[in-house]
Amino acid sequence: MTLQTPSFSPGLEGVPIAESAVSLVEGEAGRLTYRGYSIEDLTQPGVSFEEVVALLYDGELPSVARVEEIRKELHDNRVLTPEQLEVVIQVGKITHPMFALQAATAMLAPRDNDFEPKVQTVQERGLRLIAKVGHLVGIIAQARAGRPYDGPFIGESFAGMMLRMLTGKEPSPLHVRVMNALLILQADHSAGNASTFTARVVTSTKAEPEAVVAAAIGALSGPAHGGANEGSLRLFQQIGDPKKAEQEIQRLLDDKFKIPGFGHRVYHVKDPRSKVIQTLAAEVIEPGSEIADLYEIALTVEKVATARLGDRGLYPNVDLFSGCVFAALGIPTDFFTPIFAASRTAGWMVNMKEQWESGNRIFRPSQIYVGEQARDFIPMAKRG
Ligand SMILES: CC(C)(COP(=O)(O)OP(=O)(O)OC[C@H]1O[C@@H](n2cnc3c(N)ncnc32)[C@H](O)[C@@H]1OP(=O)(O)O)[C@@H](O)C(=O)NCCC(=O)NCCS
Repeated sequence: MTLQTPSFSPGLEGVPIAESAVSLVEGEAGRLTYRGYSIEDLTQPGVSFEEVVALLYDGELPSVARVEEIRKELHDNRVLTPEQLEVVIQVGKITHPMFALQAATAMLAPRDNDFEPKVQTVQERGLRLIAKVGHLVGIIAQARAGRPYDGPFIGESFAGMMLRMLTGKEPSPLHVRVMNALLILQADHSAGNASTFTARVVTSTKAEPEAVVAAAIGALSGPAHGGANEGSLRLFQQIGDPKKAEQEIQRLLDDKFKIPGFGHRVYHVKDPRSKVIQTLAAEVIEPGSEIADLYEIALTVEKVATARLGDRGLYPNVDLFSGCVFAALGIPTDFFTPIFAASRTAGWMVNMKEQWESGNRIFRPSQIYVGEQARDFIPMAKRG
């Protein structure tokens, strides 16, 4: 019998890694749907992150009672023990918030380590983690800013809690609405993106949910994935003056610089999330403000880079404009990716559940060996 060796696809481009019914990215149409519902509909005013968590888990739009159930789960399970709180505060002071979040998430894991006997709790454990990761981001933000711990209030929503803890201010209803939309937009993006794939690989080893999320946070931290939202805002700040933007972007593209917030493996049209983010930008960016200048630079980046790269299928992705909206909400730049992680924890955990339900075979792909053939060992004394 001859075994067919599949051809090597760098970056696993075009290689399916799972059968999934959670979300669908349609690269040519520029469409993203969760359980069949468009992100444009799901980010309408009035839709909460909690509602979308229910949709992602259940596969159907939730009733009022079901949203209330999920809201209560996320509300009641966000508390930490005093010992956990102390560790998060300390780790938040010494490293980048993404690494602090990764360490803090791993620390929430149980003392034993074998998830298979506990697989019936996969949804319960996932919801607990979604609740806690949002809270962890807030704690790390307070620790990093040197503010005392001021944890969730009774009745505070997930978005409201995160925003207040991140900014140190009571958020306006508009800002809470926009925060909900940002969390919803980033909650899932098919099974094949780097961090969700990581989550699935770690799930396949029967690891605990905290290990799954901690690993996925590591994958998300890189500038080619989640870190691009920080990168794009920093680039706009570096350019500084909207009048210089065109010339500067032309120069960067001449130098083969990869513009953060631009290009995508799957989308070859403008990322639908970036269009939704632009409608949010119009609501929260104050004309004449410093952020309005940064947003103008972002628009110039879009114009110039699209003119140069659009015919190669490269267009703005979610991260080109998201940084400006986060900044308009008063969120510090190095917390853009941790917020992404808090929202994507929902997608990771729903993917974990789906994978267990579909057999959870361990990922063990192959390689194409290009090294030396077996050869004789030479003792040290004879190596010259
Ligand atoms: C998203 C991304 C990682 C996809 O990577 P990929 O599918 O492996 O595509 P590649 O990096 O191989 O890029 C293909 C070509 O497009 C170019 N390209 C891709 N993204 C580019 C960008 N943002 N700016 C300029 N050129 C870009 C590459 O230089 C490459 O050109 P070449 O063929 O002449 O070498 C990549 O577009 C990128 O790094 N973008 C910036 C980071 C970012 O915004 N990430 C968030 C994604 S949501």
